[in-house]
Amino acid sequence: MILKGGRVLDPATKTDGVMDVLISGDKIKETAPELCNRFPDEELIDCTGLWILPGLVDMHTHLREPGYEYKETIKTGTQAAAAGGFTTIACMANTLPVNDTAAVTRYIREKAEREGVVEVLPIGAATRGLKGEQLAEIGFMKEAGIVALSDDGFPIRDAEILRLTLEYASCFHLPVIDHCEDLTVSKGGAVHECAMGTRMGLRGIPCISESVVVARDIQVAQWLQTPIHIAHVSCRSSIELIRWAKGQGIPVTCEVTPHHLALTVDDLYQSAYDTRFKVNPPLREAQDLKALILALREGIIDCIATDHAPHDTQSKMVEFEYAANGISGLETALPIALEVGREAGISPSTILSRMTVEPARILGVERGRLAPGMVANLAVFDPLESWTVDPQRLFSKGKNTPFAGKSLIGRVKMTVFQGETVFIDRNNPWEKMPFCGEEPF
Ligand code: DOR
Ligand code: ZN
Repeated sequence: MILKGGRVLDPATKTDGVMDVLISGDKIKETAPELCNRFPDEELIDCTGLWILPGLVDMHTHLREPGYEYKETIKTGTQAAAAGGFTTIACMANTLPVNDTAAVTRYIREKAEREGVVEVLPIGAATRGLKGEQLAEIGFMKEAGIVALSDDGFPIRDAEILRLTLEYASCFHLPVIDHCEDLTVSKGGAVHECAMGTRMGLRGIPCISESVVVARDIQVAQWLQTPIHIAHVSCRSSIELIRWAKGQGIPVTCEVTPHHLALTVDDLYQSAYDTRFKVNPPLREAQDLKALILALREGIIDCIATDHAPHDTQSKMVEFEYAANGISGLETALPIALEVGREAGISPSTILSRMTVEPARILGVERGRLAPGMVANLAVFDPLESWTVDPQRLFSKGKNTPFAGKSLIGRVKMTVFQGETVFIDRNNPWEKMPFCGEEPF
């Protein structure tokens, strides 16, 4: 198959130009202009006016299987990933049972092999049952195929447990991802701590709930000279600490979500406390958003991760304080990230590097590059198509998006995984090509 005449944009190889991409079997064979003249027998896909991108990498997804299949399954979650242009996703351990044993890791791997349409890399729990007390079966889980450790949903509570986790993780060459939240500060909180939340009678989650743990993590990483990755950074105070740490050469990396780049607590008020805006960490203030965008531009924030957190309707259709935290994010991440970039003067190539090669680098996997010899994982993207987010049309079972009704510019038209087409948009420019995959729920 030849993807013909698209703008090939690959930050890892610093490629940005109109050319053809030849895919042979499950590999990228060659990228060069006018390949179709040399390979006249190949199936041609006209990508004129479209971008050809390395398949996106999400290092922070919640797939909910096993245990919460009513929120998402490996099948629907990977279909959502493909529709969003992602070909590799790392899934968090807060399933039921928790992914804290090799048996659960193997279950996820095998299920993903059978039912998933893109690559699923399981993340193992750092501690048993995410309880922060005893380390999980790290070695056995590594053998079974985990790529990182995280208690996400919860912080690694004690500094001593964090120290042990980092020591064990470094023996097994596993990155550690910490959800930074001091539960003694945030306990019971539902919104960012600010005057409006207090007036509404909602308990607040101040920024220090996050940044005190970021500070601790940096200290432990410095002490051990072992890397730590900070999940979903949300506030300026955390950014200041991470900027300092990077300046000192401390091995810390971090991620930001598209929703923390695009929304603030003001959007939550304007929505009249719509629970689709409820997420942990909470949406912060304009000054935080500004600091996040600046940090993204400077590379202080290494990558964009979706924190795709699908929930069933019942979990969200309750009083704000009882509603589940989380946003369904895989299918809107790329156009939102590009829009944030457009408004802030951050180039598409920089945004793409934060969604491809950078998360791959942190996870230590050979993904997120579009080069000959690499596995053929690609996304074809129309940078100009505008569309309106309709939750009912999402592949994810999680319809919980605060971007419902929002008009976005740019849409994934086709996703190729290991040389196979796993997603084609129903409004595809290749008239004869049928819509790929099942009808969305
Ligand atoms: O909003 C969130 N949802 N934050 C988390 O840390 C966990 C996640 C979930 O699992 O739903
Ligand atoms: Zn998460």
